[in-house]
Amino acid sequence: MTTAIIGTGGIGSVIARRLASGGEALRLSSADTESARTLAAQIGRAAVVAAGNRDAVQGAGAVVLALRFAVLKGVIDEIADPLTDKLVVVPSNPLTIDAQGNVSRVLPKGQSSGKVVAGWLPTGARLAMAFGTLPADHFESASNRSPEPAVLFYATDDDRAGEEVERLIRTAGFEPVKAGGIEQSGRLEVGGDLHGLVVGPAQAQSLIGAA
Ligand SMILES: NC(=O)c1ccc[n+]([C@@H]2O[C@H](COP(=O)([O-])OP(=O)(O)OC[C@H]3O[C@@H](n4cnc5c(N)ncnc54)[C@H](OP(=O)(O)O)[C@@H]3O)[C@@H](O)[C@H]2O)c1
Repeated sequence: MTTAIIGTGGIGSVIARRLASGGEALRLSSADTESARTLAAQIGRAAVVAAGNRDAVQGAGAVVLALRFAVLKGVIDEIADPLTDKLVVVPSNPLTIDAQGNVSRVLPKGQSSGKVVAGWLPTGARLAMAFGTLPADHFESASNRSPEPAVLFYATDDDRAGEEVERLIRTAGFEPVKAGGIEQSGRLEVGGDLHGLVVGPAQAQSLIGAA
């Protein structure tokens, strides 16, 4: 199966490496192409560099938008047509970082990026919020954990998207656990109760049930 990864920075590069090591074929794109090219060279034959964001999506069944929140809408608008009938996976937190490195939230308290992104997508795109719950270094170290796999939580309103994102999560070396519909996606984001946790399936289920 082929997945497009748009954005090959801190989290996109780790997602790409984990998916490729699980056997997924990748089409990569980034803002200036250089970071996508460097990452593709590290990954090897499983990854190809696309000619741009629209080209990355062509021929892929799923798209991971590993982008900062501020550029998400612009990229979605750029690739809207080819997104129709694809799984769209978004790990983005609703944060911005200023020149001094100060991080601040860009959405009002209580409004999740999942809810906002759902409103930006074209009809037919199947959204799953996933792959953004762990910092990149924890993501890398927790994948393929044994004997008990680590969990990645996800949120979606779409059953087919749920099946598709579960396959990707397993391919990346984690056990998928659904937190709920997109209205629950705030729990996955920075500040949410499910963010940053490296837990096994039983603990994950009890956290879901406890809410
Ligand atoms: N880093 C983490 O540990 C982590 C963990 C969980 C969730 N997240 C979330 O994931 C999102 C991305 O974070 P990050 O740390 O990976 O950011 P990042 O390191 O700044 O990477 C962003 C990537 O987006 C690319 N990009 C920017 N504009 C683009 C455009 N118009 N078209 C295509 N690609 C474009 C950049 O391309 P260039 O490389 O060419 O500049 C870069 O590869 C954020 O919302 C963050 O909250 C991050």
